[in-house]
Amino acid sequence: MGFAEFQEAAHEAKKIAFSFSSPLIVHHYDADGLSSGAIVKSAFLGRPHRMWGIKKLDDAAMEKLMNEREIIFVDLGNNERVRELKDVLIIDHHQVKETGKPQINPMMHGIDGGSELSSSGTAYFVFGKNADLGLVGALGDMQYPLTGANKTMCEQGIASGEIRKEIDLRFYGRFSRPLAQFLAYSEEPPVPGIAYSEERAQKLLEDLGIEPRKGEEWRVYADLDLDEKRKLISAIAELISRKRRVEGLVGEVYDLPKRPRRSALYDAHEFSTVLNACGRHGKPELGIAVCLGDEAAYLEASSFLALHKRMIREGVLFARASMSDLGPFLFLDARGIIDEGIIGVVCGMVLQGAQKPIIGIAHGEGDIKVSSRTGRRTGINLGNVMNVAAGKVGGIGGGHSVAAGASVPTDKVNEFLIEAKVVIEMEMAIRQKAKD
Ligand code: C5P
Repeated sequence: MGFAEFQEAAHEAKKIAFSFSSPLIVHHYDADGLSSGAIVKSAFLGRPHRMWGIKKLDDAAMEKLMNEREIIFVDLGNNERVRELKDVLIIDHHQVKETGKPQINPMMHGIDGGSELSSSGTAYFVFGKNADLGLVGALGDMQYPLTGANKTMCEQGIASGEIRKEIDLRFYGRFSRPLAQFLAYSEEPPVPGIAYSEERAQKLLEDLGIEPRKGEEWRVYADLDLDEKRKLISAIAELISRKRRVEGLVGEVYDLPKRPRRSALYDAHEFSTVLNACGRHGKPELGIAVCLGDEAAYLEASSFLALHKRMIREGVLFARASMSDLGPFLFLDARGIIDEGIIGVVCGMVLQGAQKPIIGIAHGEGDIKVSSRTGRRTGINLGNVMNVAAGKVGGIGGGHSVAAGASVPTDKVNEFLIEAKVVIEMEMAIRQKAKD
């Protein structure tokens, strides 16, 4: 067990992948699924292959795959019926389900797929290319701060010139947003006094003597010199600390020097949001094209990004106003309000700092989509909670300890919540016992 053994398995997986003459690459539609799908695609450039991005590997998807001869599953693979397929390779990081098919998964080698390596990182170690995309997928799956295998990948990306690591303000849009927007629309966290007001953000810049423009061009945060950055960070910290503790404001940020500067793709975290916007709005192929450097695709993706961010902003406002505390977890009933594609993102954003998990529900396709998120400190394994509770009411669920989801029958929501409560309380009791 360990990293060396994982690397050996990755080497074997590469051999299996390249033994396929014309595989269908079936990948998940979120940021990690798209970046890992793109890593596999870029390894197959010049060789026959097809791509298919999907939301979940359910029975309907399996039905369509039954006649395929060669399939590479990426960020997916957890369906019993995979064993009925012909030649298959699984590149994944979720909890392992035995399918009798070759699989490369950090979980099989003592590396935590929930926090230390995502599918994109796994694909990076298989094919040895695109460390930048590996990092984008990890951040998309909330694998921050980087530890273990993720850290190794990041160091290799720094050595190859694909990644640059800095300690800086962890706001969205360091390279892509004019300064006033950068300050006004930060969600991580919103800055009291200037949040959602470009005018007040502009005023703050004026007070600090920071020029918002250079000639004709708007300046972005990355254009500021060290002194200006220091002034700005102190002012933000001061505004925040009047209301609450300043936490995580400054930390590791990752630039991607080989991607276009002044675009959302230059910052690894923003890149992952662009991919989520593509996938979660039904455009996985666009996300793959963006990963592979297609400029026209990026322009199109930008319009989905604007829509995505607006939907998230509205979703977060709704969630903050209507979340309820059900004891062992917070509950968000967003049926008919928040789209199933972003309910998970919204749950993650409103969770910040909460001491208990959040479970959100939205209308799915003929069922109810459940998303849950928790901070690592709770020690609760939500993948297990979703799996057990959904299973009890005739649904399916799974995922990681800090981010998991499920689909449950429309008329079984209450039962599902009761089951989830039972499992969470059981996990908390076990944890408490271990502490005593
Ligand atoms: O959809 P959401 O972002 O909430 O999913 C969080 C995690 O849970 C993802 O890794 C996803 O693959 C997993 N999941 C799952 N089974 C489901 C729904 C989500 O394993 N039915």
